[in-house]
Amino acid sequence: TILILDFGSQVTQLIARRVREAHVYCEVHPCDVSSAWVREFAASGRLKGIILSGSHASVYEVDDKAPDAVFELGVPVLGICYGMQTMAQQLGGQVSGGDKREFGYAEVRAHGHTRLLQGIEDFRTAEGHGMLKVWMSHGDKVTALPPGFKVMASTPSCPIAGMADETRHYYGVQFHPEVTHTVQGRAILNRFVLDICAAKPDWVMGNYIDEAVARIREQVGDEEVILGLSGGVDSSVAAALIHRAIGEQLTCVFVDHGLLRKDEGKMVIDMFAGQLHANIVAVDASAQFLGHLQGVADPEQKRKIIGREFVEVFKAQAAKLKAGGNGHKGATFLAQGTIYPDVIESGGAKSKKAVTIKSHHNVGGLPEQLGLKLLEPLRDLFKDEVRELGVALGLPPAMVYRHPFPGPGLGVRILGEVKKEYADLLREADAIFIEELRNFRDEASGKSWYDLTSQAFAVFLPVKSVGVMGDGRTYDYVVALRAVQTSDFMTADWAELPYALLKKVSSRIINEVRGINRVTYDVSSKPPATIEWE
Ligand code: XMP
Repeated sequence: TILILDFGSQVTQLIARRVREAHVYCEVHPCDVSSAWVREFAASGRLKGIILSGSHASVYEVDDKAPDAVFELGVPVLGICYGMQTMAQQLGGQVSGGDKREFGYAEVRAHGHTRLLQGIEDFRTAEGHGMLKVWMSHGDKVTALPPGFKVMASTPSCPIAGMADETRHYYGVQFHPEVTHTVQGRAILNRFVLDICAAKPDWVMGNYIDEAVARIREQVGDEEVILGLSGGVDSSVAAALIHRAIGEQLTCVFVDHGLLRKDEGKMVIDMFAGQLHANIVAVDASAQFLGHLQGVADPEQKRKIIGREFVEVFKAQAAKLKAGGNGHKGATFLAQGTIYPDVIESGGAKSKKAVTIKSHHNVGGLPEQLGLKLLEPLRDLFKDEVRELGVALGLPPAMVYRHPFPGPGLGVRILGEVKKEYADLLREADAIFIEELRNFRDEASGKSWYDLTSQAFAVFLPVKSVGVMGDGRTYDYVVALRAVQTSDFMTADWAELPYALLKKVSSRIINEVRGINRVTYDVSSKPPATIEWE
């Protein structure tokens, strides 16, 4: 295991991603864990190295330090940015406020032959110096080396851009190897983790399934588990994994709130009941949801109503399953598809993200209200690991690589008041859009436009416009198409879809969906717009 101590940088998760990509298991914990905690973590015998992350703050603004135990265990330590600065300060060096902030692309000279950087370079200068193209973001810098350290890297404005104590295997870099802008970043982190820490690259999905199955069996014993299945990636993979472990002891509850995409319910039930032979309770609560939404046009109020009703429906079903009967003893566990970023975000030191993306099955407080124990088998995994696991468990890639779908569903894609009539029109239009995105391929990459976009959907606009069809006049609703590209959903660009694709989608929607006579394309980026329209 590699222990990553998080000092609050925006990119700490990327360090963990890179380590996991090297097939080494790692965990992120807040930097203010105690020394006793670190010693206990190390006592398992599996701790191979420690990485200290960057921070959004300066060493002068905060007094976050690494727990002393970090430098007492005899394991290799890599400090990144703030992590390097605190390492320097804690080991007897000096850090000063820089008069010049360095932000963005930089070229760093790699000095001498440290184990960390040996043989790793992007180009050579005329004088024969090995150079690295990196990404830097700092104001402060290390100005005096701690005893035992030598300079490993430098830039004209930052003479100590890297430092190393090779006897103790302590390394610090002022730049960020975890971001892709640092060209050799992956090579540097791999060198640290695989070579210097000698961590075994044994974090592979096949092994993971066996271990996870054993863990679930041990935790659950002969008790019963219920799980809210939304059809999203996380809850689906959690269901498939738990089903692999305990089969009949799992019951999935699938709630149709009447605001699902076309054929969504059928697809989920075919997959889980049909192919996996899992117990599944499908609840058609659409009348209840649509009833409560009647006359409500305010987006926030709509969200609240949908969230509240979801909890009510789920609670009622869970209570039935908890009570047992029908050959069942009654459930004592509630399973959720919580994944590692959710865990880091809610437990970590930072949690300052403005937008929290929550799937509607992770309803907060539900386990306590229901008096059930929690089972969260995906807590250790990142999204792409969850996807890999889903495929390894036999879920179809088309299901596992789906675009995200918001918990309130079409409720936030029908502007203003939600009506069944609108939802039915939107479902048809949306299905045509998605089908054509899957059909059209980009010639250069060979990928479908579905895979080239991060999220795409249709939005129903409850306004009517005039059209002409055949010999007749029409007066019908408008649909807007939305397709975005993003890596984190915090910011997003509208996708430059080919005109031929837009043309096909528009003509199909207008011809096939009676009630819609106009299609528009949304060319707004986030910010200032959001991805969803409500
Ligand atoms: P926005 O519209 O805020 O969306 O740019 C960012 C991402 O979050 C999703 N989203 C939601 N997901 N419940 C969810 O589970 C919600 O209430 C919700 N609102 C937005 C949205 O689809 C996009 O992926």
